[in-house]
Amino acid sequence: MRGHHRIRAFLQSLGIEHPVLLSPMAGGAGTPELVAEVSNVGGLGAWGGAYASPEQILQAAKTIRALTDRPFGINLFAGGYASQSSVDPAPMLAVMRAVHDELGLPSPVLPSLPASPFAEQLDAVIEARPANFSFTFGIPDAQALARLRKADIVTGGTATHVDEARALEDAGVDYIVAQGEEAGAHRGTFLKSFDEAMVPMRTLVREIAAAVNIPVVASGGIMDGNDIAETLQLGAVAAQLGTAFLPCPECGTPDVHKRLILEARDDTTMITRVFSGRHARGMRNDFIDRVPPDTILPFRQQNDLTRPMRVAAGAQGKAGYLSLWAGRGVTRARAMPAGELVHTLVAEIAGA
Ligand SMILES: Cc1cc2nc3c(=O)[nH]c(=O)nc-3n(C[C@H](O)[C@H](O)[C@H](O)COP(=O)(O)O)c2cc1C
Repeated sequence: MRGHHRIRAFLQSLGIEHPVLLSPMAGGAGTPELVAEVSNVGGLGAWGGAYASPEQILQAAKTIRALTDRPFGINLFAGGYASQSSVDPAPMLAVMRAVHDELGLPSPVLPSLPASPFAEQLDAVIEARPANFSFTFGIPDAQALARLRKADIVTGGTATHVDEARALEDAGVDYIVAQGEEAGAHRGTFLKSFDEAMVPMRTLVREIAAAVNIPVVASGGIMDGNDIAETLQLGAVAAQLGTAFLPCPECGTPDVHKRLILEARDDTTMITRVFSGRHARGMRNDFIDRVPPDTILPFRQQNDLTRPMRVAAGAQGKAGYLSLWAGRGVTRARAMPAGELVHTLVAEIAGA
C-alpha cells in the first residue's frame, strides 16, 4: 500500500520504529528522562529547548545521550517574540502583586521585552547534532535551514493552517506537524489569524496531506492507538502526542497538574493568553478567570512576569496559579510509565 510505504520511509528518515512522536515540551514537562524513554522503546523523544540557554541545550543533549543511543529531537520557538508593546503594564502588575501576596512571594518586577534567543539556541542545537530538529511559531531563515541540512538533521515545522504548511514546504522543511485546535499548550500559528487557524485536527491533517508533498505528522487531542490509526488513514505518517505523556512518572510537570489531568471527567480546557501572552490551551482555573484579557502583556514578557507565580504554585500545589496545559483529549489520559504507554499505543494501532 502507498500509505505503508510513506510511513515506513518517514520512520526510516528518523531512524525510529513506531509512528509515535513525543511532543517537545519546553518549560519543565519534557525531561531528558522522558525524551530518552520514548526513544528507547522505538518512538521519537524530543526535548523542548525554547526557554533554555545554549549551555542548557548542550547539557540536555548530553544527558539524553547518556540515557539512550537512539535518535531524538530538539525543538525551539522560531518566532513569536514581540519587539514592542502598546499595553500599559500597570493593571497586569497590580493583579500580579495581589497574587504574589497570596503566594508569599516578593513584589513582582516588570521583565523587559526579551529579544528572540533563537540564533544562539540554534548554534547549540547544531553543535549537539540531534537526529531531528523541530520548531513552532514561525520558520527559520534559509541560512539556518541550510545549516541544519548540512548537519544531516531532519527538520519538522508546525502548521496550524494549510497556508502555513505550504510555506514550510516551500522553505524546504522535511516534514510538517499539523497542529489541530485540540492541541495542548501553545498554538503554533504564525501566518494566519488566531481564528482562521483554529482547525480541527482531522480536517487539518486531511487538508495538509492533500496540499503538500512532504510527510505530515498529526497532532492535537490524540490519546490512544485508535486515534493514531485513524490519522494514518487520513494521510498522516505518524502522530505527535503531548497530553497523553503528561501523567508519566518521567514527566517533569508538577504532581498537582498530573493529578488534575488523571481526574478530569470533563474537558474544561480553553484557549488563554494569560500565562505567556500567546494563545495556549489549558484547563480552566482561577488565574485564567482573574486576568482581564486586555491587560495581558505580549509574549514573552507576560511569560516571564508569570514565571515566579507558576514556579511557586507548582511547589505549593496550588493549581489555581499554574498553567495547566492540556489538550482536548485530557479526559482520556492514562497513568503509565512512558515506555509502557508507547508499547500500549503500538499494540492498539496494530489492533485498530
Ligand atoms: C505541556 C506542553 C508543552 C508544549 N511545549 C511545546 C514546545 O515547546 N514546542 C512545540 O513545538 N510544541 C509544544 N507543545 C505542543 C505539542 O507540540 C503538540 O502540539 C500538542 O502536545 C498536541 O496536542 P496534545 O497535547 O493534545 O497531544 C506542548 C504541549 C504541551 C502539552
